[in-house]
Amino acid sequence: KQLTVIKAPFSGGQGKSGVEFGPEKLLEFGLLDDIKSLGWEYTISDPLADLDTVAMKSNSDDTYKNCKRPQMVSECCKRIYNAMEDAYKNESLPITIGGDHSIGMSTISAFINKHPNGGIVWVDAHADINTPSTTESGNLHGCPVAFAMGLDKENWPPHFKWLDSLKNYVKPSQITYIGLRDVDQGEKKILKDLGITAFSMYHVDKFGINEVVRMAMEAVNPTGENPIHLSYDVDGIDPLYVVATGTPVRGGLTLREGLFIVEEIANSGNLASLDIVEVNPLLATKDIHVVDTVNTGLSIARCALGDTIL
Ligand code: ARG
Ligand code: MN
Ligand code: MN
Ligand code: MN
Repeated sequence: KQLTVIKAPFSGGQGKSGVEFGPEKLLEFGLLDDIKSLGWEYTISDPLADLDTVAMKSNSDDTYKNCKRPQMVSECCKRIYNAMEDAYKNESLPITIGGDHSIGMSTISAFINKHPNGGIVWVDAHADINTPSTTESGNLHGCPVAFAMGLDKENWPPHFKWLDSLKNYVKPSQITYIGLRDVDQGEKKILKDLGITAFSMYHVDKFGINEVVRMAMEAVNPTGENPIHLSYDVDGIDPLYVVATGTPVRGGLTLREGLFIVEEIANSGNLASLDIVEVNPLLATKDIHVVDTVNTGLSIARCALGDTIL
């Protein structure tokens, strides 16, 4: 049981500072001890180590057709893509810790290029499927799924050529969402037009989390044998438990619902890679909020690695 922790201290996909300190906080609060105690060996990959992402961001005032900081997002995502590829090559399970969710464009692309028949579960309050044409905020953390799907390529910033040249795009049938509750108008249209399976909080309330996870797994992994990538934005969980994040939305998953998703995917035995993103330790007025949020991230990691209550 070998895994690679990929550090992605990156905040260029959105405007607030602090999310680049997510990885350090997760490590400080004991991620590596948790990993060891669950019987895993780990290596650490730090593909952005030689970059000062904080300075890079404050010096990046480039925009391309609404997209903010495309140069820096592209550069960092390309490095994370390569780090994922290396981990897969070494048969080591990649766990990417963010950082904002723009890095999802690289992790899910790397996953699909390694496992062309794989399925992706995206847990989030947001669909993150805006294109350069639909984004209202211009923040690329609202766009990673569209980039990994190759949508609206005509309007991509030229920096994303590396992504454009990959063999496989994520197909609409290969991704499903759980926890949605703040989806932009343009995103709703994309989800509908492409027929993407999505479970919002309405569905969680209506069917219960057990049934939702079952349906989600069935959608992206009908044979039950395909590898699964889990991209977990901590804002999928309610701000009651996760205060320290950049775009909180009320009415989210309870802590247990949020962890149950991970437990079920771990139980399937198909988890091939994991992202934990959008922990922003600077966005809290009380220390306890940072503690709650970081511990939620750690719980997600532990559940993914096979920790069970009994
Ligand atoms: N839909 C909004 C946007 O495009 C919010 C995206 C929030 N994304 C996130 N990864 N927290 O900007
Ligand atoms: Mn989100
Ligand atoms: Mn919105
Ligand atoms: Mn997200």
